[in-house]
Amino acid sequence: MEGLQLLQAESWGGYVNGEDNIMAKKGLKRSKKASKPIHSEVYKHPEATNLLRPEVGTQAQFRKKKEPATYRYDSSLSPALNYDGQNSAREQGESFIREVLEAKTLETAKAAASKLKAISKPFLNWAGKAERLSFNVPTLPMFVHERLSTKAIIETLKSHKKQLDFGDLFGDPRHSIADQVLKAYEYRDKWVNRLVLGDSLVVMNSLLRYEGLGGQVQMIYMDPPYGIKFGSNFQPFVRKRDVSHGDDEDMTREPEMVKAYRDTWEYGSHSYLTYLRDRLLLCRDLLSPSGSIFVQISDENVHHVREVMDEVFGKENFSNQIVLKKKSGLTALKIEHSYDAILWYAKNIDSQKFRKIFDDKEVGIGETTGMRYDQVESPDGKIRRPLTKEERENPELIPSGWRPFKLSNPCSMSSADRSGDALNFEGKIYYPPTGRAWASHSKGMERLIEERRIVSTGKNLAYVLYLDDFTLIPITDIWPDLLMRTEKVFVVQTAPKVIERCMMLTTDPGDLVLDPTCGSGTTAYVAEEWGRRWITIDTSRVPLALARQRLLTATFPWYELKDNEKGPAGGFVYERKQNGKGEEVGGIVPHVTLKNIANNEPPEEEVLFDRPETDNKIVRVTGPFVVEATIPTPVDIDNDGIEDSGTGEQYGSFVERMLEVLRQSPVLEVGGGKKVSFKNIRPPAKTLSLSAEALVANGQDKPVAIVFGPESGAVSEKLVHEAAKEANLKRYSHLYVIGFAIQPNARHFIDNCEAVAGITATYVQATPDLMMGDLLKNMRSSQIFSVCGLPEIKVHSKAGKDGKQYQVELLGLDVFDPVTMEVAHRKGEDVPAWFLDTDYNDLCFHVCQAFFPRTGAWENLKKALKSTHDEAVWEHLAGTKSAPFEAGEYKQISVKVIDDRGNELVVVKKLEGGGK
Ligand SMILES: C[S@@+](CC[C@H](N)C(=O)[O-])C[C@H]1O[C@@H](n2cnc3c(N)ncnc32)[C@H](O)[C@@H]1O
Repeated sequence: MEGLQLLQAESWGGYVNGEDNIMAKKGLKRSKKASKPIHSEVYKHPEATNLLRPEVGTQAQFRKKKEPATYRYDSSLSPALNYDGQNSAREQGESFIREVLEAKTLETAKAAASKLKAISKPFLNWAGKAERLSFNVPTLPMFVHERLSTKAIIETLKSHKKQLDFGDLFGDPRHSIADQVLKAYEYRDKWVNRLVLGDSLVVMNSLLRYEGLGGQVQMIYMDPPYGIKFGSNFQPFVRKRDVSHGDDEDMTREPEMVKAYRDTWEYGSHSYLTYLRDRLLLCRDLLSPSGSIFVQISDENVHHVREVMDEVFGKENFSNQIVLKKKSGLTALKIEHSYDAILWYAKNIDSQKFRKIFDDKEVGIGETTGMRYDQVESPDGKIRRPLTKEERENPELIPSGWRPFKLSNPCSMSSADRSGDALNFEGKIYYPPTGRAWASHSKGMERLIEERRIVSTGKNLAYVLYLDDFTLIPITDIWPDLLMRTEKVFVVQTAPKVIERCMMLTTDPGDLVLDPTCGSGTTAYVAEEWGRRWITIDTSRVPLALARQRLLTATFPWYELKDNEKGPAGGFVYERKQNGKGEEVGGIVPHVTLKNIANNEPPEEEVLFDRPETDNKIVRVTGPFVVEATIPTPVDIDNDGIEDSGTGEQYGSFVERMLEVLRQSPVLEVGGGKKVSFKNIRPPAKTLSLSAEALVANGQDKPVAIVFGPESGAVSEKLVHEAAKEANLKRYSHLYVIGFAIQPNARHFIDNCEAVAGITATYVQATPDLMMGDLLKNMRSSQIFSVCGLPEIKVHSKAGKDGKQYQVELLGLDVFDPVTMEVAHRKGEDVPAWFLDTDYNDLCFHVCQAFFPRTGAWENLKKALKSTHDEAVWEHLAGTKSAPFEAGEYKQISVKVIDDRGNELVVVKKLEGGGK
């Protein structure tokens, strides 16, 4: 069966070439479009660059640390303006008055006066705002954890070859470790899109301070939690979309998220506003001078958020408040809430990029426009009549070929150089109403009469405006329920159509868009579809896991490029086209106006940016993208070599807190009902790298050593190595490494610790619940620490045509459940996703094959590529056994399993003869 699958899979690339060969032999030429078979392609951004970010695994060598950044608010707006007491605003006011009086030039006087004026404006105040004139953000570098490419997956499966083109397929320039460390944040690489794990504040600060991306983002779409209810924020499980507020079981156990949640909402709405204002300030710094930001928010907080945005972006830069209709839920309210809002601001309203986009006009009375296309004309033009009531209600009843039109005003508002003369229409003299003029000169008006565009309505004349003169109308700020048209993958997902409209209004292909609230990645998905570059950030792993899958398995139309060398930045191709019924269906449409007819000119043309030409023979897939995360840099030598979460002083208190928890909950679950109990837990007398020592109650009475991983981030190999060295030297009997997450090489070190460092070691998974403090009321002490398993894999090998072929089988996974505290073995086919790097280099994980067992995740791509690929290939991608591959340069593989909570569990395995 294996051999058969292999052969079939080999042949699925051949179909394409075989067909082309036959054509070539026969000497046939095909028309441009028909000649191309269906194949997958990606958009590239050849002219865009990004500063090199090093790969995970090099962080121990990374030395380019930066000080935390301080951001200041406009001090004239922050403190409450209150003159009847000792208030800093009063001092400020007096200092501005002094500045005005002492100003040497008119400009400086004006500047001081406008500052003075600003402090007298009303503004929104909340607890803690006045005291918070500035705030600090740690400036952390980002490291590349994963490189993903749908095309690489397709190519790997097609060829089973070891040599993937890393530059082309993954966008990976393959820098040496030395270069990654030395040239990090200096050298410019080709652009790749980016999915970033981390708090948006820290990540945006990194983009600004490490990468100098200030002023380079064209559009930001932000869909923050609507309020402070837990359920409105997060989805804890990859496959479970409903979240109930206050239900502990639903709370995610991810430390970053829990920390963000606790830090953020400590003071309820006050903290919420501070949270938003800080992030909006960094968004403003990232936006280009022509850029726009959209913030999606419900009516619970829209009034506050708008005031905060007025303050951060300036009232004058407000563009629109868009009403986004949604399905109203059945609640006990008197009148249902049926819309959310999108607040749209420009960085600078005078230089804002704006592209017109359109909606279809409606026959009858337009629901949002109120326009009345309520007349109709027979195909021979002889009959003109109002629509019947039935036709207005159901335009499908209008007889075929009849043209809907509306009666519009033939006069212009301005009377300047227009003839106000009498107009003879069918023997009767008409005058424009007082203060108005005919919309064109007398010759023009005569031409309108000749063209049967003028009719009498009794006392007045009207202009006949056919719906097909221009079937579209610029969109307004009331948007219909665009959500109805999409299937949601995430509990709080935005409809792609909504973000698409925002993107079309404010960006061009090739522009950079950012979403600091990624969720299921809708902004990235829409940006990918429309050839925009993207960066998206989320603090939680569950949404990122959903976004990764969504992007990896998506297909898009191939919009033809004007200039292949430039990629999307060179623009898309738009053409004028009509269908069999004579309807305009292209991206360029004529726009017949009264002026065109009156002046006997050809109609004007409008470009419909969302209707570029497509090549149906190409299936476009998501271009290469990376998963990155901010990781604290290692501390300096003078900090005892202990890794911390970025600031040395935090480590002390973190270790103390962990020690306290361990004392109160000294039981480790080992699985299979076995437990280990500690006693006499205390910090070691003198230590370089250990966190605690203890005795094992049910073990030998020899002390064991304990080391805690970092508060945020994963246990590194260096930390384990140093702890093991010291524990061995001090003759402890065993080392326990306790962490929230662990890097694969650290896990590997622990599993081989006796051979490498002379002491046995165990990795203990700490449940992040303990970071949640009082948020989680019913924490059971036995639920805190557990020893959880790794993905269990089997590597099969057999001789192939060109050398040895390998296949990896995922046997299962030991999943630790922090609520039931059980370590359950789960079968391979029950995991939401697993990935295979067929040539793991100990640094970044290249996703060469991606599996979503028992799901139809790849179904879309499979359908789009039609019969060009063999069924066996798709079976692999929905299963637990990889497609065959050859060993690569590093002769080792890595398997990453994503569990239900978005946690990543990684194993690395050497292939025969491997060992770099
Ligand atoms: C309402 S959802 C966004 C949904 C998204 N528009 C979509 O279509 O899927 C908000 C997201 O913001 C994330 N989030 C909240 N606070 C954050 C922070 N400080 N940094 C980064 N992400 C954050 C949450 O994890 C959540 O996934």
